[in-house]
Amino acid sequence: MSAFSSAGGITFAAERWALNTYSCHQDRRDPDGLATRTRISKQILAARDIETVPERQEGDAIWPNSRVPGFIPFEMPDYIHGTAPDERSRLSALNNLLNSRTLAEIAPKPGDHVLDIGSGLGQLSRAIASATQRTVIGIEYSPDQIAEADRQAAAANESHLVEFRQGDAANPPLSDSERGAFDLAHTRFVLEHVKDPLAVVRAMVAAIRPGGRIVISDDDHDVLRLHPEPPGLRELWNAYIRLYERSGMDPYVGRRLIWLLKHAGAQPTRNTWVWFGACSGNPEFEPIVRNLIRVVQSAREQIIQHELLEADAFDSAIEQIRVFGKRDDAAVWFAMALAEGNRPL
Ligand SMILES: C[S@@+](CC[C@H](N)C(=O)[O-])C[C@H]1O[C@@H](n2cnc3c(N)ncnc32)[C@H](O)[C@@H]1O
Repeated sequence: MSAFSSAGGITFAAERWALNTYSCHQDRRDPDGLATRTRISKQILAARDIETVPERQEGDAIWPNSRVPGFIPFEMPDYIHGTAPDERSRLSALNNLLNSRTLAEIAPKPGDHVLDIGSGLGQLSRAIASATQRTVIGIEYSPDQIAEADRQAAAANESHLVEFRQGDAANPPLSDSERGAFDLAHTRFVLEHVKDPLAVVRAMVAAIRPGGRIVISDDDHDVLRLHPEPPGLRELWNAYIRLYERSGMDPYVGRRLIWLLKHAGAQPTRNTWVWFGACSGNPEFEPIVRNLIRVVQSAREQIIQHELLEADAFDSAIEQIRVFGKRDDAAVWFAMALAEGNRPL
């Protein structure tokens, strides 16, 4: 049970309301979320005395992108990377690197009705929809991510391909006719950011029809290799991994994907990697090294705040990775775990 949960109906709802209110603001005013989380905790304590939850007003800043009647307030998770503009551009660049390989593994078929959980900026959702020629439903908790995903879809003239709904991955806002009717449920780089990945995978299995497919992919942070290894990399990467654990997330969730499928009620059918490495001289080398630097940097303040690494050691290791990125004899290995299953007939 999370630190934000409590026993009673109205009190519980009031706590969630406070958490939603402040977490929505977190994206814009406090991308690292540290100051905000302190405020959230205080607000939750205050909310314990609230008797009723305020009605949502039209145009209210709370849940601005929820498009489903009867939307249920949910617990906003801590998202290590945040949604600041830098992080968004990193996520977009990562999508450019990985989407065609991921899409080949997902193998959506024309006509498939697809649910994409934790859709982020929606690039992969749109790529899937282009393959199915059918609108993909994306579930995403961050209103800021949804706003940017909508903006990017409109800029690409692809708004018709996607419908983004604000909601929690473990309790996606779906209508009765949608639940249990999707042909394919997909998620990428989300299970590592939730405290209860099994609840998310269960919700995905419940969303697909009997015989429908579920494809889940995520990191196993243990697989990173750089050679020649930049000084300080090991300590830096270790601190980054520890931050996941401190935040209640599993940095090694990639190795658990088949287990998650089975225990969520699916029949696993496939276990593989999506390659995500390169070497000097390869056009992907520079963007991969840049992604590595930016992904760790997005967690810099939290790593230092949690005393997982000193600021100087952090910055010096980042500098060493930059030097590594300019070598003509360097190699980097990383891969994303991907697993597939079916909902039994
Ligand atoms: C690393 S991004 C991946 C986005 C997209 N799946 C992709 O591969 O490009 C993770 C996304 O999951 C969202 N997210 C994290 N926890 C969530 C939750 N419990 N419910 C819904 N979305 C969540 C974050 O806001 C973020 O946009």
